[in-house]
Amino acid sequence: MKFKSTISTVLVTGGAGYIGSHTTLLLLQAGYDVVVLDNFVNSKPEALRRVAEIAAREPEIIKGDIRDSDLLDQLFRNFSIFAVIHFAGLKAVGESVTNPLTYYENNVCGTVSLLQAMTRANVTRIVFSSSATVYGDPASVPIREDFPLKATNPYGATKLYIEEILRDIYRSEPHWRIAILRYFNPAGAHDSGMIGEDPCGVPNNLIPYIAQVAVGKLSELSIFGSDYDTHDGTGVRDYIHVMDLAEGHLAALNALETLSLITCNLGTGIGYSVLDMVNTFSEVSGKPIPYRISNRRLGDISQCYTDPTHARNTLNWKAGRGLTQICGDHWRWQLKNPNGYKLE
Ligand code: NAD
Ligand code: UFG
Repeated sequence: MKFKSTISTVLVTGGAGYIGSHTTLLLLQAGYDVVVLDNFVNSKPEALRRVAEIAAREPEIIKGDIRDSDLLDQLFRNFSIFAVIHFAGLKAVGESVTNPLTYYENNVCGTVSLLQAMTRANVTRIVFSSSATVYGDPASVPIREDFPLKATNPYGATKLYIEEILRDIYRSEPHWRIAILRYFNPAGAHDSGMIGEDPCGVPNNLIPYIAQVAVGKLSELSIFGSDYDTHDGTGVRDYIHVMDLAEGHLAALNALETLSLITCNLGTGIGYSVLDMVNTFSEVSGKPIPYRISNRRLGDISQCYTDPTHARNTLNWKAGRGLTQICGDHWRWQLKNPNGYKLE
């Protein structure tokens, strides 16, 4: 570990992952020094090599686990970290149902370990990756931050418990500055096509699945249900460009200069159906996306999109990139990197 003494160093946990790599890039470009802590359980160092290439600046990369208290203490001692952006976590809903303890251990215990180390180091500023999943199956849309919270699977429960832990810390230590960001559906990639989402195995999420059908790696998409109460019967979501999301994190860091506890939904406010996504991706890529309608996926909800007003007012931020750009940028990444970060 090199020693650096600057007041603008941000620790990014999970910074090699999909959202973390895009945010690390923006932080570097904005002039922050960045320390990435990642155990690479769901990412590759190559992502950070490319981030450094685009930014023409390097983040400090520490391979390690947020559950390793000694490593965290060493890290807070060696770098003058003023804030933490905390992405590190496991995120597969289905896997969390099969292996709940792995999820509670990694996500909840990992976050407690991080918060304890922050307390020891007197670093009290954190931006946390929560999820729209904390609203469960909402009674109505668009979803506002004051809607009731409910976990419907262990992954969602980890997000909810971590949010509660952060609110408890704030109640007992009001000098902490905490931003809880509830993401809707991140998609797209940096417009260079050099970094993007690199799922392990067959993707669970819609956009990476469609992209792999378009590039010919998968033969067809299964659309999970066409009998929802939506404009065409398929599920509706709020797809937000990953660069808009990354910008939301910088906006949150900025807002924490004056605000103490922030809870914001990060989405566009517009809901698109599965068929809308298939059609736009097909138009943008010029490729057919064969699909068939199959049964609903267990646990899926009909519609999920945000009311973006609170984020706009609190963070002075809004998602500006539209569906065509989301699909176009995702497609460029997929075309240039048919095997993700795997170097042939
Ligand atoms: P990702 O899997 O690409 O990134 C997570 C990173 O954390 C990976 O690089 C992984 O190696 C690392 N990591 C996991 N456990 C770790 C540990 N114990 N110690 C150190 N590093 C560890 O996921 P992402 O899509 O970039 O998501 C980032 C965060 O945002 C996650 O917390 C996720 O739950 C949350 N989120 C994601 C979505 C989404 O759809 N992508 C939606 C809502 C919320
Ligand atoms: N879908 C398909 N076929 C697929 C994949 C998805 O039809 O192969 C449909 C789903 O039924 C849903 C929509 O596409 O209607 C989006 O599905 P995703 O899996 O891409 O996203 P979800 O909204 O289901 O889940 C995402 C994150 C979760 C998070 C949840 C709520 O992946 O981690 O949002 O925030 F919990």
